[in-house]
Amino acid sequence: MTVHTMQLNEPIGETRLDRDVQGVIGRPIDRFEGPLKVTGTAPYAYENLKGETVAYGYLVTSGVGAGRIRSVDAMPALSMAGVLHVVMPEDGVRAAADPSDKKPAAIKGEITYFGQPVCMVVAESFEVARDAAKLVTVDVEETDGKYDLLAEQPNAYDPGDNTIPSTVTKGDFDKAFAAAEVTFEATYTTPSQSHSAMEPHAAVARWDGDALTLYGCYQLVSTNVQQIAAALGISPSKVHMVNPFIGGGFGGKLGIGPESVFAAIAAKATGRPVKVALTRQQVYQTTSRRSDTIQRVRLGATKDGRITAMAHDTWTGNTKGDEFFEPAGISSIFLYAGENRQITHRKANVNILLSSSMRAPGEAVGMLATENAMDEMAEKLGLDPIEFRKRNEPEVDPQEGLPFSSRKLVECMDIGARRFGWEKRNTRPGTRREGEWLVGIGMSAASRKNLLQEAKADITLSPDGRATVSTDMTDIGTGTYTILQQITAEMLGLKIENVSVQLGDSKLAQGPGSGGSWGANSSGSAVFTACEGIVEAIAKKLGVPADDLTLKDGAAIAGNRQTPLSQVLAGEAISVTGHFKPGKAFEETHQASYGAHFCEAAVNLVTGETRIRRLLTVGAAGRILNEKTATSQCYGGQIFGIGTALTEELVIDTRTGLMVNHDLAEYHVPVNADVPQLEVVLLDERDPAASPLAGRGIGELAISGVGAAVTNAIYNACGVRVRDYPMTLDKVLKGLPALDAAA
Ligand code: MOS
Repeated sequence: MTVHTMQLNEPIGETRLDRDVQGVIGRPIDRFEGPLKVTGTAPYAYENLKGETVAYGYLVTSGVGAGRIRSVDAMPALSMAGVLHVVMPEDGVRAAADPSDKKPAAIKGEITYFGQPVCMVVAESFEVARDAAKLVTVDVEETDGKYDLLAEQPNAYDPGDNTIPSTVTKGDFDKAFAAAEVTFEATYTTPSQSHSAMEPHAAVARWDGDALTLYGCYQLVSTNVQQIAAALGISPSKVHMVNPFIGGGFGGKLGIGPESVFAAIAAKATGRPVKVALTRQQVYQTTSRRSDTIQRVRLGATKDGRITAMAHDTWTGNTKGDEFFEPAGISSIFLYAGENRQITHRKANVNILLSSSMRAPGEAVGMLATENAMDEMAEKLGLDPIEFRKRNEPEVDPQEGLPFSSRKLVECMDIGARRFGWEKRNTRPGTRREGEWLVGIGMSAASRKNLLQEAKADITLSPDGRATVSTDMTDIGTGTYTILQQITAEMLGLKIENVSVQLGDSKLAQGPGSGGSWGANSSGSAVFTACEGIVEAIAKKLGVPADDLTLKDGAAIAGNRQTPLSQVLAGEAISVTGHFKPGKAFEETHQASYGAHFCEAAVNLVTGETRIRRLLTVGAAGRILNEKTATSQCYGGQIFGIGTALTEELVIDTRTGLMVNHDLAEYHVPVNADVPQLEVVLLDERDPAASPLAGRGIGELAISGVGAAVTNAIYNACGVRVRDYPMTLDKVLKGLPALDAAA
């Protein structure tokens, strides 16, 4: 296996992807695993080791929110027929749910949140384990817990830099705000949210001597191997993680969960492979959440709508000792112009489930506040919301002064406005009535910081002209398998069915995993790099310069000669490891994906209920690698945004720390009836500084800002502005005029 390395220090020039000879890149190709998933035959973590003698674990979790464990009595459980073992707190269990938490915290005897795993019953069947778990008594000396972010806000502190700096300032905000001709100030709150992936967290652990095989469902294989090894106190070289199919992650599976650590300990103790699946309630209560947020937005502008001062101050909660904060201010750093700015993130300690990354950490909830504030300020200025945004379009990144690699925000707003019929919007809220419904339209900008990671991928082109791609990169439902297949097929001139892709196994070349919308672009860049190495090898065999070589339908074409690859290879496979590293092109430009959302909403004057009628997202994310998977990602973001605006809220009982609505019956994600016909338009863009693919992240773009388009539409419909998300009907109803008084 030879290694081909690439670091992107200059914007990429024309590539084989641009030549589009094979005609597969960008096309809306179906995912091969779709039929497997809908027929229930794709093997997820829990379904491994079918037919083998295994044991089943069931977690016992804390029924109090804060305290110290005095004792755990597992004897009644152990004496039940079929019970094999109980993993106890003193067995050295450590828990790590967040990859930013490099050193997993020992949970020992301290209870820091309601639902924290305490011990695990292991039995011959899941049912026996679950039954026996009810017999375990945990005696806890309760202490006063902190269960309310609002109450803890005064005790919040600067947690230090994390995924982004905790404090970003420029100029003199206070002075500029005080001097501004027009000012706006408001505080918005967003609730805790749950990732709610379809596949509940599950793991199967098997030991062979001192080597662990873990079938898991995680997003970041190489990081996850490090985490499980650290939690167990073994060498990462002793861990083999197998992770080919993952039923959704959304950040909730970035880090290993208690199911893996307990499964591994139990398998060691019982000498049998152990399966652990969390119940839906446990997924809610014991994995991780998105923190609730308090966000104060202040804008100062000239009368003609140029922002002179902008502050976005945010407060979020997390458990003591975990300094991850929701980076709610991230897009405020670069989205709009303004010389004087202040973006802060403060964190309060709470006794609530760990908060970690969830789908577009930062933008997804930060833009709910700022994109409402932009709407509110536009109204104050008497400006159209799109015009107000355009007047504050920065020439360069307003914080660092870096040039944007590519920024199509204005195009997205203009295209969206035309397509949606923005000109028909009534400026004055509450003036379009249809029976008992008030109808309005609203918009929001979308932006998501682009992230790019180092990545490796191996490709073998075998003598029969078929290619195999392998990397430990994951596919969490996003389409990674298909996208990597398409890049390889286009680069090497192969039919798509002659490229196979292996993912999610820690023995394979190290990829970046799925997170932060970097997956396709980063792992795809490694595949691109490996393909370039293969093309060079083919060119060398033919004695022609690589640039003069065309690859199509399994043949090499140079000059007027066409040679089948099988003949070129003459029985010898070509294997190349592609090693891609971000370089100066990434560092010297500011990179983000942009878009615009448009929503039409109807609000019922009698019930306060909101029905979304139309939702359009226009997005620009560089080259679109697969139109179908990219569009589907955007549909997901739009639906997520509907939930964020209208229904999603983890309710914490502030007296006990209990997560009240810990299942899908009570945690309301949008269902079919809540979702109108969705429309997504993706611009044909290239961003040569972003990657050799000239693409950027798209997965999290469409969720960013969409909830604000919905709430801006609600305001336009009925004149009610609720600054406390979600905008449930009770909150909207309070602000509505009486039925006969309405226009
Ligand atoms: Mo995403 S929240 O980085 O999985």
